[in-house]
Amino acid sequence: MRAVVLEAFGGPEVLRPRELPAPAPRDGWVDVRVQACALNPHDCLVRAGRYPDGVRFPHVPGSDAAGVRTDTGEEVVVLPSLFWGEDERAPGPDWEILGDRTPGTYAEHVLVPEDCLYPRPAGWSATDAAALPLAGLTAFRALFARGRLRAGETVLVLGAGGGVASTAVALAHAIGATVLVTSSTEEKLELAHGLGANGGVLYTDPAWPQRVRALTGGRGVDLVIDSVGSTWAEALSALAAGGRLVSFGATGASTAEVDVRRLYFAQQSILGSTMGSPRDFAGLLALVDGMRGWRPVVDRILPLEAAAEAHALMESGGHTGKIVLNIG
Ligand SMILES: NC(=O)c1ccc[n+]([C@@H]2O[C@H](COP(=O)([O-])OP(=O)(O)OC[C@H]3O[C@@H](n4cnc5c(N)ncnc54)[C@H](OP(=O)(O)O)[C@@H]3O)[C@@H](O)[C@H]2O)c1
Repeated sequence: MRAVVLEAFGGPEVLRPRELPAPAPRDGWVDVRVQACALNPHDCLVRAGRYPDGVRFPHVPGSDAAGVRTDTGEEVVVLPSLFWGEDERAPGPDWEILGDRTPGTYAEHVLVPEDCLYPRPAGWSATDAAALPLAGLTAFRALFARGRLRAGETVLVLGAGGGVASTAVALAHAIGATVLVTSSTEEKLELAHGLGANGGVLYTDPAWPQRVRALTGGRGVDLVIDSVGSTWAEALSALAAGGRLVSFGATGASTAEVDVRRLYFAQQSILGSTMGSPRDFAGLLALVDGMRGWRPVVDRILPLEAAAEAHALMESGGHTGKIVLNIG
């Protein structure tokens, strides 16, 4: 089968097209003929060797896939969160992300546990469906399972041009929340508006937290979902009393300083979130099913063999939404 593999850890150039044998059958696992896969920043961390435990070269990276079950012919999307376990609060010790150690989705075939296969949303192309799983799951859990967002509340989504954030805007809008965003350009604010955002500010303006607060009439937002990390202090200052900040990424920094007294006087909560459980994924697909006409924002679709180029693009930050690799 055609695949793109890592033969060493390093920069995008270590991603190489290769012919590999198709995966050997395994009890309880199903072979999926992958039609399209999508990139996540996590793939770049795997490629760079930030998750080295158990990786055997040549390693096929990739967590997101849409394709066809070779046993039944059903069109499926793959839940990339493997072996979550029984506890909805957090994954158990066996939890792993598809493509970390287990061979991933940058290939014509991927083997996945049968309970990680879900029907593809009706009417969706493989390239649209491949753009959904990891980002959609992360957005869903951050907004709803962890953030407890309800209709009528106001959520602030940071960095609305991102793959997770652009999906979060649409999901939050779909349940009847008021959605505010930050982004780097007017064009991306406009894109977020088209996805359902009610207002937005440029995070290049140092006064962005005050501008967000002004958009809420001074009250602040009920929920912030933050994948940036370096933004915690500002994000908390845009939050209403009793509000929640859900953190799930560290694009800007992996440490943050917060005003502890302000946090406790304002009765605010900081919550961590990572990807999601099978229940979250089922919830995502059910919500998406009702969002007629919505599709994830796809920046571009490249052939599988252009994976190295796609990684370089993602790391340069020159994309909006998802980058998809078409396998055919
Ligand atoms: N914990 C998990 O389970 C999980 C799952 C998925 C992703 N993540 C993490 O979440 C982050 C986002 O993932 P992604 O797939 O959405 O990546 P992405 O598509 O590359 O998006 C990154 C976005 O970050 C935004 N950004 C950068 N600096 C910012 C700042 N100072 N303030 C506000 N926004 C800023 C940019 O928004 P604009 O384009 O609007 O400027 C950019 O589009 C990554 O760090 C990723 O590793 C974690």
